[in-house]
Amino acid sequence: MYKPICSIFGPLALLMKLIKTTAELNLVLAQARKSKKKIGLVPTMGALHEGHLNLVKRALFKSDVVIVSIFVNPTQFNDQADLNAYPRTLEKDIVRLGEISSALIVFHPEVEEFYGDQLKAKSFDFKQLDSVMEGAHRPGHFDGVATVVELLFKSTKPNIAFFGEKDYQQTLIVKQLVKQKRLGISIEVCPTIREANGLAQSSRNERLSSQARSKAAFIYEQLLWVKRRFSTASFERLRYAVTDSFAEATDFELEYFEIAQVPELTLSLERKKNTKYRAFIAARIEGVRLIDSIALNE
Ligand code: PAF
Repeated sequence: MYKPICSIFGPLALLMKLIKTTAELNLVLAQARKSKKKIGLVPTMGALHEGHLNLVKRALFKSDVVIVSIFVNPTQFNDQADLNAYPRTLEKDIVRLGEISSALIVFHPEVEEFYGDQLKAKSFDFKQLDSVMEGAHRPGHFDGVATVVELLFKSTKPNIAFFGEKDYQQTLIVKQLVKQKRLGISIEVCPTIREANGLAQSSRNERLSSQARSKAAFIYEQLLWVKRRFSTASFERLRYAVTDSFAEATDFELEYFEIAQVPELTLSLERKKNTKYRAFIAARIEGVRLIDSIALNE
């Protein structure tokens, strides 16, 4: 059975429930499911920041019962060092959630709960969506994401699930997963929340020194520059300018800059009529990999 977590995490988390297994979750949600309450899920890997909290607030506004999952999913990391370095801050996360609402359900399964002794991702075919950008640079990443999201959906059976636009490609993958598996879950994509200097909120920002954190605003500045020049400059010119700026900014290592047609994510070399585009950047600073993107012609 679930246990109240006030004694461990303080009075703010007074009535919040910390659940570790699907069986416990089914018990806690039985009544809500019976009375057809709208169940909202916010999937996270913890190290919660304002972006996550915004998803939780949105979920509270749009659903009757809100589950926040905190699970660092090993199968979506193609780099063991990255997985090891991923911040794990459960106590702090729970206090932050308790400040928003004591009615939240926190689902924090162990790896064995989902994967048993077979720690591996399923294979999916998302065509173009997972063959570019994050999919191309982090082989197997989206198979891992789709595997765990499907497992989370099976455990929590939400009516609606909330994802951040910062991981734009991931939101398309999740929508495709829901479509392919006919899961009937609506996916709500919430805007990227930024630090005061424009840097997209991310759990990885925690790993940056304060100097790098202020320098990292450069990524969003580049995206804003591309957006400003989008209607007049060729794609080639934009690509050249961004690559050049990163080459001069020696603290950064640019992994990719792409302009892609959305929502298909076809990489584009020139503008087509009546087509929406988005620019994407992945870059490292102090060895920390950051991603961001911007709509170019909404
Ligand atoms: O965006 C994330 O934090 C993760 O990819 C997700 C969706 C929680 C799956 O592990």
